[in-house]
Amino acid sequence: MRARACPIAAVLFLAGVVQLTAADKPRIASNFGIRTLQSGTEDVGRTDRGAFNTAGRSTPTGPDIERPFNYTALDCSRYEPTYSQIERDLQFSRKLGISLNSTLYLSARYGGVHMRGLTVGFFGGTAYLLTPTDFRNLSHHAPLHLAYMRMMLYLESSFGAALPDVAFVLTTSDTPRYVSPLLVNTSSPRSEVRSYEPGFVPGPYPVCGIGKSDFFPDLLLVPNFHFHMKLYDQTFLAAIPEFNKMAWRDRKPVLFGRFSRYRTNRVSEDIFTYKAGPNGRRICFKGNRTCPVRDYFINKIVPKDPARMDVSFIGRVSMLRHTHYKYLAHLDGQGISSRLEQLLSLGSLVFKEASGYYAYYYRSLLQHRVNLVEFWKDEEVDGPEDVLRELDWAAANDEAAARMAAEGQRIAATYLTGNGRTCYWYRLMHGLRSVLSYTPSLSHWPEAQPLSLVVEQQLLATPGGKEVYDAPWAP
Ligand SMILES: *[C@@H]1O[C@H](CO)[C@@H](O)[C@H](O)[C@H]1NC(C)=O
Ligand SMILES: *[C@@H]1O[C@H](CO)[C@@H](O)[C@H](O)[C@H]1NC(C)=O
Ligand SMILES: *[C@@H]1O[C@H](CO)[C@@H](O)[C@H](O)[C@H]1NC(C)=O
Ligand SMILES: *[C@@H]1O[C@H](CO)[C@@H](O)[C@H](O)[C@H]1NC(C)=O
Ligand SMILES: *[C@@H]1O[C@H](CO)[C@@H](O)[C@H](O)[C@H]1NC(C)=O
Repeated sequence: MRARACPIAAVLFLAGVVQLTAADKPRIASNFGIRTLQSGTEDVGRTDRGAFNTAGRSTPTGPDIERPFNYTALDCSRYEPTYSQIERDLQFSRKLGISLNSTLYLSARYGGVHMRGLTVGFFGGTAYLLTPTDFRNLSHHAPLHLAYMRMMLYLESSFGAALPDVAFVLTTSDTPRYVSPLLVNTSSPRSEVRSYEPGFVPGPYPVCGIGKSDFFPDLLLVPNFHFHMKLYDQTFLAAIPEFNKMAWRDRKPVLFGRFSRYRTNRVSEDIFTYKAGPNGRRICFKGNRTCPVRDYFINKIVPKDPARMDVSFIGRVSMLRHTHYKYLAHLDGQGISSRLEQLLSLGSLVFKEASGYYAYYYRSLLQHRVNLVEFWKDEEVDGPEDVLRELDWAAANDEAAARMAAEGQRIAATYLTGNGRTCYWYRLMHGLRSVLSYTPSLSHWPEAQPLSLVVEQQLLATPGGKEVYDAPWAP
């Protein structure tokens, strides 16, 4: 495995200057789980702040956290395998501590309407919106924010006073909008923080989002808002018996997929998300910030074997119709795409584009040739054309392919449930509390309002708010 210059973490809001530091590129195996952070982050030294040191602590577990009635009622211990991602996401913050100042700074810069963010928290078991929002200006993000507000209220009703006091920024943008302004350097993590703009406060910051790459190591992954808006358990998991009426042997051995025309966005310097065609052929443009992976796959790869691949932008096809095919294609959207969890429920074998972007459950649950097939793995050899070899393999190993398809469906049904996601949030809140270097207080947030008021009164009083309010939602 080559060593290569790589940014493990750095910079400011992405408009700012990006600075890089050298470190080994994490190993990439044909396995999602292996592509994890390495030495660059393992050995982050002491913080020179001296104020707080969370090293050696880990997310509290045990009787206190497991005591609430609903911890047992939701069967939270069953979802233990997914919680490893929480610890990975917190590893920086655990070493450096999250300060009140960095929280206020991030909230002011990132936790507002213009950045598709909202600043929320729990105090005394009640969910609060900590800084004002403006549903009108959020435009199409208003329903997404509402989905998360309802999730916060659901946590309030499920766990109440068992929730720790925390304040954080939650964002609905597809890809992260910031990188922690720490140059992560194993020998001296803070030494290279330059003088940024006046008033700059370094991270790590408390920020949650739906997807990231290792370029954004301290972002806290949370389940996608689409789970709520698409009523995932009811629409997909409860329909599994219906999907399974189409027997494996009756499904066509064709790779099928229908996509909307999104192009993948990335930060130029983020080596984890770079995509290329066969033999390293360049497909990204705009300074490598846009990679049209869907266009490229559909226009250049599918025509090489149209008998075995039916993947296109044209026509919407119901999920039930997807079960007519043995193999289902998944390509990134602007970042991660929530289509993946939908496809996993169908009982066909998901062919997932290898991607540096990941959601909260990818690293802990997904495995190549265990519960899905990964393709477009190596940029410098055959790039996306390895999909043809994977199709050959699946055709030659039909029983194994059927088992993997069933396993993909099983992990979705077992772990991606509303209960599992609620438990994940609960555990994440306790993890976050354990890395704060200050004692959170509602008094830090003079504009705070209970989220229930924001949803039940403000949203409904906003022109067009009723329509947003009436949209279906489930945990
Ligand atoms: C890490 O920091 C030390 C001390 O400031 C510096 O000498 C070294 O060059 C840095 N390493 C990298 C890879 O930037
Ligand atoms: C927090 O930030 C304020 C100004 O933004 C500064 O005066 C204060 O010293 C900072 N506190 C700490 C502990 O860094
Ligand atoms: C929200 O929209 C209104 C009307 O378009 C505009 O006047 C106002 O400045 C916007 N506020 C923010 C915070 O963008
Ligand atoms: C358990 O969660 C449900 C759903 O949020 C809630 O209605 C109920 O009050 C909770 N029970 C307890 C004992 O907290
Ligand atoms: C885009 O990335 C490729 C591969 O890393 C690199 O060779 C090329 O110089 C980059 N282009 C720009 C404009 O940064």
